[in-house]
Amino acid sequence: MTRSTRKQPASPAAPAVPVLDPPTPDPFLSDRPVVPPGKPLIEVEDLHKSFGGLHVLRGITTTIKKGEVVVVIGPSGGGKSTFLRCLNLLETPTSGRIWFGGEEIVSGGSLQRDGTDRRLSHRARERNLNRYRSDMGMVFQRFNLFPHMTVIDNISMAPRMIRGVSREAAEKKAMELLERVGLPDKARAYPSQLSGGQMQRIAIARAMAMEPRVLLFDEPTSALDPEMVGEVLAVMQELAANHMTMVIVTHEMNFARDVADRVLFLEGGVILEEGPPSLIFENPSQPRTRDFLSKIISGAPEAPAK
Ligand SMILES: Nc1ncnc2c1ncn2[C@@H]1O[C@H](COP(=O)(O)OP(=O)(O)OP(=O)(O)O)[C@@H](O)[C@H]1O
Ligand SMILES: [Mg+2]
Repeated sequence: MTRSTRKQPASPAAPAVPVLDPPTPDPFLSDRPVVPPGKPLIEVEDLHKSFGGLHVLRGITTTIKKGEVVVVIGPSGGGKSTFLRCLNLLETPTSGRIWFGGEEIVSGGSLQRDGTDRRLSHRARERNLNRYRSDMGMVFQRFNLFPHMTVIDNISMAPRMIRGVSREAAEKKAMELLERVGLPDKARAYPSQLSGGQMQRIAIARAMAMEPRVLLFDEPTSALDPEMVGEVLAVMQELAANHMTMVIVTHEMNFARDVADRVLFLEGGVILEEGPPSLIFENPSQPRTRDFLSKIISGAPEAPAK
């Protein structure tokens, strides 16, 4: 982690040594509200999103706990991507509230989760929003790597540009992440020289480089050839085993069954059903969930005859 790789400021008696980063604490990391494992990290209340006259999200209420892996499933057009994009504010919700670590995000940080009213200056609100965005790493279906940059530049650019981390520290961290996703030998390669599976593993490393507190995945394997799906899921599985908080939209039901703490079935812009994978996959209560699962998993419980 950048924090641990940073050299301590030299004491007055010590000889002058070059320091990698400024000795001031990194506000992106030190300013974060502390959330213990298992406590709510993201709380969403009655979230709505319309595009013009199209009412896509119709009242989503849920809580994502620190360290939890939440898998979102559901039919095409149900609002899964819109939900993720509202969570990380790539889209502005039409109404509803989102709290992150107890601080309200969407309406500008006035009413905290504990009920205290904390009016913030415009500047403080902007700072909170920027911090919130950097707390949410996002991995897309189509990787979105910068084609003109090497792998190591793709990974280290955001920490350098947004957080002001030095090149040395950012590249050291990038190399650690490349080790973690199993691609240390690709540091100087360009995206066009990589397979789809490798590109997606780099995209995950890039998202991790900002030390986010949540990773959002929108169908991370659905653009991959089948033989490359496993290597990407293995990286995600390792993150889950290390208690990374993750919200994952996927159609990989075996993976969902293995890693999810909770599965949300999203259809028509609402969470129709949610619960542990054992419940959702083996014994869903909603006919629509049964119907959906029976179409994509062989051997899933059949939808009852109408
Ligand atoms: N920027 C946008 N402008 C207008 N309509 C949009 C926009 N983004 C999404 N929509 C519409 O919102 C609805 C939900 O889309 P969304 O992409 O969230 O669905 P999804 O559940 O992710 O589907 P899929 O499984 O196909 O990815 C769709 O009808 C889509 O056309
Ligand atoms: Mg989608």
